[in-house]
Amino acid sequence: MAQQPIKLALMPGDGIGVEVVAAAERVLDTLRQRYDLPLSWDTLPWPSTAWHREHGEMMPADALERLGDYQALLLGALGDPGPTSDPKRYRLSDGVSLAPLLTFRKGLDLWACERPARLLPGAPQYLADERAKDIDMLVIRENSEGEYVNQGGRLRAGTPDETATQLEVFTRKATERLIRHAFNRARERLTLREQDGELREYLCDRSGLKGAQVCLITKRNAQPHWGEMYTEVFEQVAREYPDIGVHHELVDAACMKFVQCPWQFDVVVASNLHGDILTDLAAVLAGGLGVAPSCNINPDDKSRPALFEPTHGSAPDIAGQGIANPSAMLLTTAMMLDWLGLADAAQSLRSAVAEDLQAQHRQSQEQNSGTRTTDEITQSILGHLS
Ligand code: NAD
Ligand code: IPM
Ligand code: MN
Repeated sequence: MAQQPIKLALMPGDGIGVEVVAAAERVLDTLRQRYDLPLSWDTLPWPSTAWHREHGEMMPADALERLGDYQALLLGALGDPGPTSDPKRYRLSDGVSLAPLLTFRKGLDLWACERPARLLPGAPQYLADERAKDIDMLVIRENSEGEYVNQGGRLRAGTPDETATQLEVFTRKATERLIRHAFNRARERLTLREQDGELREYLCDRSGLKGAQVCLITKRNAQPHWGEMYTEVFEQVAREYPDIGVHHELVDAACMKFVQCPWQFDVVVASNLHGDILTDLAAVLAGGLGVAPSCNINPDDKSRPALFEPTHGSAPDIAGQGIANPSAMLLTTAMMLDWLGLADAAQSLRSAVAEDLQAQHRQSQEQNSGTRTTDEITQSILGHLS
């Protein structure tokens, strides 16, 4: 049966975003031919710092409306375009250059941000402990409110009496849908592990060892208002999922345990800011930002486009040198293909990235090979596509 055509928007953005989206486009082109995928795409020059230089804004005023024409958005990165060696580069404040990202997440109602952190064999392993090989967690980050509502202001700006206010907003509705989604994902992961015969055990609060777990992160000792609401909602929703164990960590202790025993985490659910910080940490535990994928989705509504972008930023320190690792972008592309129902192509791409990592690891053990270029990694992954 012929599938409906699927339209994508590719948005390279800034810095290495441009380099890794070019890699994603090559891979998409190959996959489209190989799997006869019903995909077409436009590459948009916005949002970007380059667009701002020309037009005085990061993107056209009707950008959100225009994005409604697409089923998925693939964004490289926004921010300092680099290179950092050029002090005269056209540079905006992060508040301006990153604003479109937050506009998309909120404007398209993409309230869940998913960041899987699984240490693939051959990826850089920063933890010496052998058990680090078992790292396989999914951090689900609240993506619509919390610390990112951008409400507040600066009183008496520039004076010694200046006062900055940054409001945080947490609603029961957003909390409940997020936590329920985390439990649903934990259940799906459990089912997959059962199918693959790869059962795991997690030490959970009250129930002892369980085959799956959701860990709630808060800072409820210092921020009790939202912390206690999250805790109550978590306990309520958990009752609907007796097969899934529960756990709670304060965010500071979670940082410590992510490093000390990351293999003990399954699904982690966190607020917008906590999730942001924890996912850079989780990324490095799973091989670094060069291999860390991410997506922004509305799990209840596929009628509007979802936004797929790696966890990393524009990396101005290496931008323009052709050495950005495209793997994070390509694993992100695989998440997009899965979301679009193109599971075979997604699996083929994920396997190709995994095989490339293993091949590269073997090679670097045999000879002292230096950093690979974006192009070399992309070529190798293309070569591993089934
Ligand atoms: P960053 O993620 O851009 O870079 C952090 C470090 O990781 C740098 O040393 C960089 O070279 C390295 N790195 C990141 N991705 C890599 C890749 N694919 N291959 C190899 N190395 C990689 O974070 P930063 O330096 O804090 O921020 C730079 C800019 O990006 C800022 O303007 C920031 O606001 C923005 N930013 C944007 C996003 C986004 O668009 N989603 C995310 C994070 C940061
Ligand atoms: C991310 C980024 C963004 C965030 C910034 C650039 C606004 O760090 O996607 O992780 O904090 O969400
Ligand atoms: Mn971040």
